[in-house]
Amino acid sequence: MEKIFVTYKIPEIGLKLLSKFNVEVNEEDRTLSKKEIIERAQDATALVTLLSDNIDAEIINALPRLKIIANYAVGFNNIDIEAAKAKGVIVTNTPDILTDASADLAMALLLATARRIVEADKFVRKGLFEGWKPELFLGIELNGKTLGIIGLGRIGKAVAKRAQAFGMKVIYHNRRPLTSEEEKNLDVEYRSLEQLLKESDFISLHVPLTSETYHLLSRSKLKLMKPSAVLINTSRGAVVDEEALIEFLQQGKIAAAGLDVYENEPEVPYALKELDNVVLLPHIGSATVETRNNMAVLVAKNVLAVLEGKKPLTPVY
Ligand code: GLV
Ligand code: GLV
Repeated sequence: MEKIFVTYKIPEIGLKLLSKFNVEVNEEDRTLSKKEIIERAQDATALVTLLSDNIDAEIINALPRLKIIANYAVGFNNIDIEAAKAKGVIVTNTPDILTDASADLAMALLLATARRIVEADKFVRKGLFEGWKPELFLGIELNGKTLGIIGLGRIGKAVAKRAQAFGMKVIYHNRRPLTSEEEKNLDVEYRSLEQLLKESDFISLHVPLTSETYHLLSRSKLKLMKPSAVLINTSRGAVVDEEALIEFLQQGKIAAAGLDVYENEPEVPYALKELDNVVLLPHIGSATVETRNNMAVLVAKNVLAVLEGKKPLTPVY
């Protein structure tokens, strides 16, 4: 019987769909090492992985029976796609179904940074609330402000829609601009990356991490942001030069940041934790009950399709 190795327990609803196969799940609450994955998945034809598993060429080449790597995420920068391609191993991700949950979280960070929600919550818990004051916790009004979206794909578009409902003007930057008809339908305007950085009051990142987007917001790009601007990152940490970002936040060269992802996850620099103008989340963009269940089902359907000799639903190449 074909074996499926799952590197970390995913919602039961997905695992149940695979029950006619031999499913081995790592039941421990930790990321497995490369050596452990190679050992435990040795005879597996399918591998279910998390974005925190670094599935490199060494792992892919060490698993002789492998047919599919089903990543429990939309991003797949954790997998060496070229190595998989070279070995004829299919790679799938979980696009579309997590778009709304991810866009909600970007919006939550936008609101939380604009209105200083976390700082204000801490203030109340510390017992410092002594009555209504005209200038207590003044934040930034969203209505009339400009949101710059870098990466107007599925998630970026869903963020645009939400931001527009709050009265924001939306500009965007993509490698390839949309057609003017699409721009009109979505009520968005294209800008060069430089112009977007200069013009935006809020900037939200929705690009995948690739060799082209690594440190897309480098020190010199971050410098272009207004000192009053806020950066939201729910994509991948390494899209931003984190060290430069920390410096700019410390020096007030950028007003605030809302971060769900970090350059060396799960490591979160101490300097970030010390800043009041930063909201920090533990990579929970897609973390709703509905979405995580849907992701588990899609992962299982991809595995089932490939093991049954059919086309996967959401291959990445
Ligand atoms: C989350 O970051 C994902 O890629 O699904
Ligand atoms: C991911 O789903 C994207 O295209 O934004």
